[in-house]
Amino acid sequence: MTEDTDIAAPRLRDVPNWLYLLREFEALYRHGSPGGSKLIRAHRKKVRDALSRLLACDPAIAMRAPASKPVVAHMSRALDMGERGAMQGMARALREVRADLTWEYGYEKVPKALGQKYAYCEVAGPLGPVKSADLILGFVLFAPNTTYPQHSHKEIEESYISVAGAWSENDAAVYAPGSLILNKPGDEHRITTGEFDPCLLAYAWVGSHEKLAAPGMKLTATRKARREQGI
Ligand SMILES: [Fe+2]
Repeated sequence: MTEDTDIAAPRLRDVPNWLYLLREFEALYRHGSPGGSKLIRAHRKKVRDALSRLLACDPAIAMRAPASKPVVAHMSRALDMGERGAMQGMARALREVRADLTWEYGYEKVPKALGQKYAYCEVAGPLGPVKSADLILGFVLFAPNTTYPQHSHKEIEESYISVAGAWSENDAAVYAPGSLILNKPGDEHRITTGEFDPCLLAYAWVGSHEKLAAPGMKLTATRKARREQGI
Protein backbone atom coordinates (compact mmCIF):
# COMPACT_ATOMS: atom_id res chain seq x y z
CA MET A 1 0.00 0.00 0.00
CA THR A 2 1.45 3.39 -0.89
CA GLU A 3 1.64 6.23 1.52
CA ASP A 4 -1.02 8.20 -0.31
CA THR A 5 -3.60 5.44 -0.20
CA ASP A 6 -2.89 4.26 3.33
CA ILE A 7 -6.12 4.83 5.15
CA ALA A 8 -4.22 5.69 8.36
CA ALA A 9 -2.07 8.40 6.74
CA PRO A 10 -3.15 11.82 8.04
CA ARG A 11 -4.38 14.37 5.52
CA LEU A 12 -4.11 18.12 5.62
CA ARG A 13 -7.61 18.56 7.02
CA ASP A 14 -6.58 16.41 10.01
CA VAL A 15 -3.92 18.96 11.05
CA PRO A 16 -5.70 22.35 11.15
CA ASN A 17 -2.61 24.37 12.06
CA TRP A 18 -0.87 23.30 8.84
CA LEU A 19 -4.04 23.92 6.83
CA TYR A 20 -4.31 27.46 8.23
CA LEU A 21 -0.64 28.11 7.42
CA LEU A 22 -1.19 27.04 3.80
CA ARG A 23 -4.26 29.26 3.64
CA GLU A 24 -2.08 32.19 4.69
CA PHE A 25 0.14 31.47 1.67
CA GLU A 26 -2.92 31.22 -0.54
CA ALA A 27 -4.26 34.58 0.69
CA LEU A 28 -0.89 36.22 -0.02
CA TYR A 29 -0.66 34.94 -3.58
CA ARG A 30 -4.37 35.55 -4.26
CA HIS A 31 -4.84 39.05 -2.87
CA GLY A 32 -1.44 40.72 -3.11
CA SER A 33 -0.58 43.07 -5.98
CA PRO A 34 1.81 42.27 -8.84
CA GLY A 35 2.77 45.94 -8.87
CA GLY A 36 2.04 46.17 -12.59
CA SER A 37 4.61 43.50 -13.52
CA LYS A 38 3.41 40.89 -16.01
CA LEU A 39 6.14 38.48 -14.93
CA ILE A 40 5.17 38.76 -11.28
CA ARG A 41 1.49 38.43 -12.15
CA ALA A 42 2.26 35.21 -14.07
CA HIS A 43 4.36 33.85 -11.20
CA ARG A 44 1.69 34.64 -8.63
CA LYS A 45 -0.85 32.80 -10.78
CA LYS A 46 1.40 29.74 -11.07
CA VAL A 47 1.78 29.59 -7.28
CA ARG A 48 -1.92 30.24 -6.71
CA ASP A 49 -3.03 27.58 -9.18
CA ALA A 50 -0.64 24.98 -7.74
CA LEU A 51 -1.79 25.84 -4.23
CA SER A 52 -5.48 25.63 -5.17
CA ARG A 53 -4.91 22.18 -6.66
CA LEU A 54 -3.04 21.15 -3.54
CA LEU A 55 -5.72 22.34 -1.14
CA ALA A 56 -8.48 20.79 -3.25
CA CYS A 57 -6.94 17.31 -3.07
CA ASP A 58 -6.48 17.38 0.73
CA PRO A 59 -2.85 16.23 0.48
CA ALA A 60 -1.16 13.63 2.64
CA ILE A 61 0.86 14.78 5.62
CA ALA A 62 4.29 13.24 6.12
CA MET A 63 5.70 14.80 9.26
CA ARG A 64 9.47 14.87 9.33
CA ALA A 65 11.61 14.72 12.45
CA PRO A 66 11.90 18.26 13.84
CA ALA A 67 15.43 19.65 13.44
CA SER A 68 17.04 22.86 14.62
CA LYS A 69 19.98 24.99 13.48
CA PRO A 70 21.84 27.74 15.36
CA VAL A 71 19.89 30.56 13.64
CA VAL A 72 16.64 29.26 15.16
CA ALA A 73 17.72 31.09 18.34
CA HIS A 74 16.47 34.21 16.47
CA MET A 75 13.05 32.76 15.64
CA SER A 76 11.14 34.17 18.65
CA ARG A 77 12.30 37.68 17.81
CA ALA A 78 11.44 37.22 14.13
CA LEU A 79 7.94 35.99 14.96
CA ASP A 80 7.42 38.78 17.47
CA MET A 81 8.35 41.35 14.81
CA GLY A 82 6.20 39.56 12.24
CA GLU A 83 3.19 39.61 14.52
CA ARG A 84 3.45 43.38 14.87
CA GLY A 85 3.55 44.10 11.13
CA ALA A 86 1.80 43.64 7.81
CA MET A 87 2.40 39.88 7.86
CA GLN A 88 0.88 39.17 11.25
CA GLY A 89 -1.49 36.44 9.99
CA MET A 90 1.39 34.47 8.53
CA ALA A 91 3.61 34.98 11.60
CA ARG A 92 0.86 33.80 13.95
CA ALA A 93 0.08 30.74 11.84
CA LEU A 94 3.78 29.89 11.69
CA ARG A 95 4.12 30.19 15.48
CA GLU A 96 1.53 27.41 15.87
CA VAL A 97 3.67 24.87 13.98
CA ARG A 98 7.14 26.05 14.99
CA ALA A 99 7.86 23.02 17.23
CA ASP A 100 7.36 20.71 14.22
CA LEU A 101 9.64 22.50 11.74
CA THR A 102 12.60 20.75 10.14
CA TRP A 103 15.33 23.38 9.74
CA GLU A 104 18.05 22.57 7.23
CA TYR A 105 20.84 24.05 5.12
CA GLY A 106 20.16 22.38 1.76
CA TYR A 107 23.78 22.65 0.64
CA GLU A 108 26.25 19.79 0.81
CA LYS A 109 28.85 22.22 2.03
CA VAL A 110 27.68 25.26 3.91
CA PRO A 111 30.33 27.91 4.73
CA LYS A 112 30.99 27.79 8.48
CA ALA A 113 29.93 31.39 9.18
CA LEU A 114 26.73 30.97 7.17
CA GLY A 115 25.87 27.82 9.13
CA GLN A 116 25.45 29.99 12.23
CA LYS A 117 23.26 32.55 10.50
CA TYR A 118 20.95 30.87 8.05
CA ALA A 119 18.54 27.93 7.71
CA TYR A 120 15.29 27.15 5.95
CA CYS A 121 12.35 24.87 6.55
CA GLU A 122 9.84 23.50 4.10
CA VAL A 123 6.12 23.61 4.73
CA ALA A 124 5.00 21.89 1.52
CA GLY A 125 7.01 19.96 -1.06
CA PRO A 126 7.99 16.49 -2.28
CA LEU A 127 9.44 15.70 1.17
CA GLY A 128 6.51 17.09 3.14
CA PRO A 129 5.31 17.83 5.70
CA VAL A 130 2.46 18.72 3.32
CA LYS A 131 3.13 16.45 0.33
CA SER A 132 3.25 18.47 -2.87
CA ALA A 133 4.88 17.55 -6.20
CA ASP A 134 4.81 20.81 -8.18
CA LEU A 135 5.11 23.49 -5.53
CA ILE A 136 7.49 24.04 -2.61
CA LEU A 137 6.55 26.47 0.14
CA GLY A 138 8.80 27.30 3.06
CA PHE A 139 10.53 29.87 5.21
CA VAL A 140 14.10 31.05 5.38
CA LEU A 141 15.48 32.67 8.52
CA PHE A 142 18.56 34.90 8.66
CA ALA A 143 20.37 36.25 11.72
CA PRO A 144 21.06 40.01 11.85
CA ASN A 145 23.90 41.22 9.68
CA THR A 146 24.02 38.19 7.38
CA THR A 147 25.19 37.92 3.80
CA TYR A 148 23.64 34.98 1.99
CA PRO A 149 26.07 34.39 -0.86
CA GLN A 150 25.25 34.59 -4.52
CA HIS A 151 23.24 31.69 -5.91
CA SER A 152 20.63 30.87 -8.53
CA HIS A 153 18.06 28.13 -9.07
CA LYS A 154 18.14 26.16 -12.29
CA GLU A 155 14.69 25.66 -13.84
CA ILE A 156 13.00 26.83 -10.64
CA GLU A 157 11.11 30.11 -10.32
CA GLU A 158 11.33 31.56 -6.83
CA SER A 159 9.57 34.31 -4.93
CA TYR A 160 10.33 35.59 -1.47
CA ILE A 161 7.79 37.45 0.61
CA SER A 162 9.17 39.31 3.64
CA VAL A 163 7.53 38.34 6.93
CA ALA A 164 9.81 40.19 9.36
CA GLY A 165 12.96 42.30 9.22
CA ALA A 166 14.66 44.37 6.55
CA TRP A 167 16.79 42.92 3.76
CA SER A 168 18.14 43.67 0.34
CA GLU A 169 18.80 41.60 -2.76
CA ASN A 170 21.73 42.40 -5.05
CA ASP A 171 22.05 45.77 -3.30
CA ALA A 172 19.02 46.90 -5.30
CA ALA A 173 16.51 48.00 -2.62
CA VAL A 174 15.48 47.50 1.00
CA TYR A 175 12.43 45.29 1.37
CA ALA A 176 9.90 45.54 4.20
CA PRO A 177 7.34 42.98 5.46
CA GLY A 178 4.80 42.22 2.73
CA SER A 179 7.20 42.84 -0.20
CA LEU A 180 7.40 40.16 -2.90
CA ILE A 181 10.59 39.59 -4.89
CA LEU A 182 10.70 37.33 -7.95
CA ASN A 183 13.84 35.43 -8.99
CA LYS A 184 13.40 33.84 -12.39
CA PRO A 185 15.26 30.57 -13.17
CA GLY A 186 18.97 31.28 -13.39
CA ASP A 187 18.76 34.80 -11.89
CA GLU A 188 21.80 35.27 -9.66
CA HIS A 189 20.92 36.71 -6.26
CA ARG A 190 22.70 37.61 -3.07
CA ILE A 191 20.90 38.66 0.10
CA THR A 192 21.98 40.91 2.95
CA THR A 193 20.02 41.53 6.14
CA GLY A 194 19.71 44.45 8.56
CA GLU A 195 22.23 45.04 11.29
CA PHE A 196 20.18 44.52 14.46
CA ASP A 197 17.22 42.24 13.77
CA PRO A 198 16.68 38.84 12.20
CA CYS A 199 14.91 38.49 8.88
CA LEU A 200 12.23 35.91 8.10
CA LEU A 201 11.09 35.33 4.53
CA ALA A 202 8.37 33.07 3.17
CA TYR A 203 9.22 31.56 -0.20
CA ALA A 204 7.57 29.66 -3.02
CA TRP A 205 9.28 27.56 -5.69
CA VAL A 206 7.54 26.42 -8.85
CA GLY A 207 9.11 24.02 -11.34
CA SER A 208 8.83 20.52 -12.75
CA HIS A 209 8.24 17.57 -10.42
CA GLU A 210 11.74 16.28 -11.22
CA LYS A 211 13.47 19.56 -10.47
CA LEU A 212 11.59 20.18 -7.22
CA ALA A 213 12.37 16.64 -6.07
CA ALA A 214 16.11 17.27 -6.57
CA PRO A 215 16.79 21.02 -6.78
CA GLY A 216 20.57 20.62 -6.42
CA MET A 217 21.20 23.78 -4.35
CA LYS A 218 24.61 25.27 -5.02
CA LEU A 219 26.21 28.54 -4.08
CA THR A 220 27.75 30.35 -7.03
CA ALA A 221 31.53 30.27 -6.73
CA THR A 222 32.94 33.70 -6.01
CA ARG A 223 35.71 35.07 -8.18
CA LYS A 224 38.17 34.35 -5.34
CA ALA A 225 36.97 30.74 -4.96
CA ARG A 226 37.06 30.21 -8.72
CA ARG A 227 40.61 31.51 -8.77
CA GLU A 228 41.59 29.18 -5.92
CA GLN A 229 40.02 26.22 -7.72
CA GLY A 230 41.66 27.23 -10.99
CA ILE A 231 38.27 27.55 -12.76
FE1 LIG B 1 17.16 31.87 -3.74
